[in-house]
Amino acid sequence: MLKTAVIGAGSMGRHHVRNYAEIPTSQLIGLADPDEARSELAEKHGCGFFTDYRALLDQKPDLITIAAPTTLHYQIANDALDAGCHLLIEKPVSDDLEKARALMAKASEKKLKLAVGHIERFNPAVMELKRIIESGELGEVLSINNLRVGPYHGRILDTGIILDLGTHDVDLISYLFNERCHSVFATATKRKHNHEDHAVLQLGFGQGHTGIIQTSWLAPYRARNVFVVGTEHFALCDLMNQLILVYDDNPEGNNLLAGLRPVPDGEPLKNELTSVIANVMEDTEPLCTAEDSIYALSVCKAALQSVESGRSQDVV
Ligand SMILES: NC(=O)c1ccc[n+]([C@@H]2O[C@H](COP(=O)([O-])OP(=O)(O)OC[C@H]3O[C@@H](n4cnc5c(N)ncnc54)[C@H](O)[C@@H]3O)[C@@H](O)[C@H]2O)c1
Repeated sequence: MLKTAVIGAGSMGRHHVRNYAEIPTSQLIGLADPDEARSELAEKHGCGFFTDYRALLDQKPDLITIAAPTTLHYQIANDALDAGCHLLIEKPVSDDLEKARALMAKASEKKLKLAVGHIERFNPAVMELKRIIESGELGEVLSINNLRVGPYHGRILDTGIILDLGTHDVDLISYLFNERCHSVFATATKRKHNHEDHAVLQLGFGQGHTGIIQTSWLAPYRARNVFVVGTEHFALCDLMNQLILVYDDNPEGNNLLAGLRPVPDGEPLKNELTSVIANVMEDTEPLCTAEDSIYALSVCKAALQSVESGRSQDVV
């Protein structure tokens, strides 16, 4: 069993707190948040509460989730690595590539795990979709198109939508292709937010394969869908409702038949935390490594450059 803790117990961090309290291989020892109102959450789960995260580090947790605002990830993670803690940092790993690389180097030097919370990899629907793609049933996958839209909630103030939401889909599309993209072209607009709040990204992969990401905080309802176009079949995956439809040609005519595929139950975050705890206990590699998250961040950074330049950017 590992001693676990959470730094930043807001909208996302509170779910880490709940899951760490429920997972049998975890002993939740505390949470840190400068907002005193979060002490209620600590009381509910019978763990320590600290307004200064350094006081939580003094309690020597084995594994910490960092779910504070993205621009604070580096400082908190750096201190937590110095304190000898394994880390799960919420996506995006940082707002800055050099800082992300420095964290990866420090974790490696100290032989500590650094996992990053690209949660969709742990969504049971994604696990099943990846299995379907790798079985060859869809044929050659030509493009993967992700739609991730919803109203702006007013919470994320330190980054725009490309870093905040686009990073999920850069990671997810690359994970499903099992390949890293070589270029990105992006357009974006800024309407209700201090950074971009609507963006379309086109990722270039080998053999002309393409990833398209449409992400927006200007939509009236939430949707998270993945459309996979294969040479044999087309698949639609609804990430929120954890559903997969595979469309087959109808031998009776031109209409398409859609078959609903079984997806096992499971909360993505619980799967993710259980997996990271096992990585620490068994000394194995996380499913989403620091290097994977640095790749996703560098694609998002190149996308932001593309928005500025109006041209496709190489991903280096
Ligand atoms: N994986 C996902 O699907 C997902 C979803 C939402 C958010 N996130 C990520 O989680 C992070 C937090 O986002 P959120 O939506 O929960 O934001 P939020 O504003 O709801 O929560 C952030 C919390 O951090 C606290 N905080 C601020 N400064 C702190 C400090 N110095 N030490 C400790 N805590 C501090 C705030 O008081 C707040 O409670 C971001 O990096 C975001 O990108 C990931």
